[in-house]
Amino acid sequence: MSKIYFLTFSAALGNMSKLYFLTFSAALGNMSKLYCTRLHENFLVYSFTKNFRIMITRTPDFSLLHHNTFGIDARCREFVEYDTEDDLLALLPELRGTKYFHIGGGSNLVFVGDYAGTVLHSRIKGFEPLAPAPDGSLRVRIGAGEVWDEAVDYLVEHGYYGAENLSYIPGETGAAAVQNIGAYGAEVADIIESVEALRVSDGERIVFLKEQCTYGYRQSIFKGAARGQYIVTRVTLRLQPAFTPSIGYGAIEHEVERRGIDLPALTARELRNIIIDIRRSKLPEPSEVGSAGSFFMNPVVQRPQFEALQQHYPDMPHYDAPGGVKIPAGWMIEQCGWKGRTVGRVGVYDKQALVLINAGGATGREVYNLAQTIAADVQAKFGIEITPEANFVE
Ligand code: EPU
Repeated sequence: MSKIYFLTFSAALGNMSKLYFLTFSAALGNMSKLYCTRLHENFLVYSFTKNFRIMITRTPDFSLLHHNTFGIDARCREFVEYDTEDDLLALLPELRGTKYFHIGGGSNLVFVGDYAGTVLHSRIKGFEPLAPAPDGSLRVRIGAGEVWDEAVDYLVEHGYYGAENLSYIPGETGAAAVQNIGAYGAEVADIIESVEALRVSDGERIVFLKEQCTYGYRQSIFKGAARGQYIVTRVTLRLQPAFTPSIGYGAIEHEVERRGIDLPALTARELRNIIIDIRRSKLPEPSEVGSAGSFFMNPVVQRPQFEALQQHYPDMPHYDAPGGVKIPAGWMIEQCGWKGRTVGRVGVYDKQALVLINAGGATGREVYNLAQTIAADVQAKFGIEITPEANFVE
């Protein structure tokens, strides 16, 4: 870091003789960097965000341990965080032609080893209610760097309905739109109106309408055909002013009954709490056990293949899905005897076989090897290929 200048101001406010102190440091060559420090509880903190902004933070040789829920202690060459679209625009020229990877909450990835490039992270924040759509639905524009579950909480709190079933999914809003996160009969594509992104090649700001995002099960244009070409900056959701609970998923229905809740009286907050409790009972807390949530996607097979399998496994759970029949990978992994098994520092969660876990100090390579072994076992037993939902980053 180059030379740092500190300036201290004090100012008397009228005859109240109240002093306000402002301390800021500005890195030479980047006068826009500003730190406001609370000096004393009686002194106000000034945010000079209009004139001086904390914009881009760079940390060389950075440990990603706290930026991936699997808890892999991989390092990257440089970790770069930015606050606004303009900051990102300013960063793009140096990214072009270099090795970089953009993360969200790091809840869906495994760093296989150290990353010999730049890891980017968005701090673009904000909830901005927009004018309602002609059909009366409500629209909220959310910064890509907002934590997804905080977004759901905000929506429930402010009477924007439709996101409750996606409560407690780890990660950030931009990544949610890339990954098309889903749970309990809902996926984020159901409530997306549009996704704003910057095109890496020329910095063009593009607004993708939902239809242009080519959403599918855990799929989008951003992780498919246009992978690496765009960085999502904001997401506009379309929500409802009236709460219509979606409780078709068995576990929710069961929990609503168990709690003795009269369905017409169910509130969005209660449904959100139910979803949170169900997730907590089935999935590891990222703060306690490292994981990437569901590690594999649920495969869809052709109906004749399903019918042949059903002869052997009459109890096999299955759901109709576009293109065939979806078979839960967690069930197949359990049938292969993997549920609750640990191999060295990695393993399979004992309450949900779709979740691979860090049993303590695991490397990404160990996770990768376990995933390969499990997929090979499923292939051998069922003749079905299972594909990771989690992304391996090398
Ligand atoms: N199953 C087993 N053994 C297991 C796990 C599951 O037999 O160890 C069976 C269950 O009994 C059930 C079926 O598999 O019949 C489906 O299980 P579950 O309802 O737990 O859902 P899932 O298919 O394993 C998917 C999502 C989850 C989401 C849940 C609930 C994927 C890849 N995963 O899991 O999403 O929370 O449904 O909607 O689609 C995530 O993506 O990270 C994630 C957690």
